[in-house]
Amino acid sequence: LVGLTVARTAKAEIDINQLGVAAAPRPMTLYASTETHNSVTKAAALLGLGREALRLIRVDADFRIDLSELKRAIAADRAEGKLPFCVVGNAGTVNTGAFDDLQALGDLCRQENLWFHVDGAFGAFAAVVPSRKHAVAGMGEADSLAFDLHKFMYVPFEAGCAMVRDSDAHRRAFAVSADYLVHAQRGPAGGNVWFTDYGVQLSRGFRALKVWMSLKEHGARKYAAAIAQNVDQARYLAGLVESNDRLQLLAPTSFNIVCFRYAAAGMADALLDRVNEELLLELQEQGIALPSSTRINGRFAIRVCITNHRTRRADLDLLVNEVDQRGERLATSLK
Ligand SMILES: Cc1ncc(COP(=O)(O)O)c(C=O)c1O
Repeated sequence: LVGLTVARTAKAEIDINQLGVAAAPRPMTLYASTETHNSVTKAAALLGLGREALRLIRVDADFRIDLSELKRAIAADRAEGKLPFCVVGNAGTVNTGAFDDLQALGDLCRQENLWFHVDGAFGAFAAVVPSRKHAVAGMGEADSLAFDLHKFMYVPFEAGCAMVRDSDAHRRAFAVSADYLVHAQRGPAGGNVWFTDYGVQLSRGFRALKVWMSLKEHGARKYAAAIAQNVDQARYLAGLVESNDRLQLLAPTSFNIVCFRYAAAGMADALLDRVNEELLLELQEQGIALPSSTRINGRFAIRVCITNHRTRRADLDLLVNEVDQRGERLATSLK
């Protein structure tokens, strides 16, 4: 919401905060892949652009945005009299942890005069993992970037972070003057940086404290090691799934997410969905493990997103064994 608010203000053809979206000469459109988190859809609605203004572009087999489709959609909208203004790139999609080609998206945005926002909720942290750093090449080109410190800095909920390259544009989007909020030279209202000028809230909690304290206590290197460990664990889990012929990996594991299901040979997709839905509930309700779920190409998937410094490989061994055994039992009872 923060990144897209600044994008909308910066790229609008009018003073949109003053006049409102209805006064814009051309409807404004933005672009992101179908794998994009629904927070972007929410933001499009909250910003008055409408959910339909967000053009969801199809992905390739690795769940990365299809660049030629994106270019076609932008050109088609321009031809129809719309104003394309922003592309959202994913550094780690919510479903599978896929990374869009951020370099190519950044280049396209420069050519097309579009704002480039990157959703790096957890994937932005690939920057500190030597073996995954290449996945975020181009992220530095972003006009705005969002990421969550409650994901890969393991701090308690919640501490989201939004960064905007152009601080004047950032302030223009949010700052509203008021007699009771004067930037004084001295005293408790002294100083030029007021966070209310950079976001939605006036009264706000001191979220940065827990982040700063954690960094001071552990140091950046320890975080990099813990994140790399989680990424290795995801690969380990994917390996366990691949080596078991009753389990099926439903998406490539490019970072810290593994999507899989119980799928013994000869079972129909509809039964597999029921078995895996029930299986996941059992795991959760019985306190065995707490994966989430999603759908990958229409199939129900058990989704393991590892952002816990206390996760151990033995936990993943246990999970896989439980899925295997329970899957077999449920497959017989639900038939
Ligand atoms: C890729 C991605 N974007 C955005 C979000 C939303 O972040 P938050 O839960 O902090 O609002 C999430 C996760 O929840 C996510 O995985």
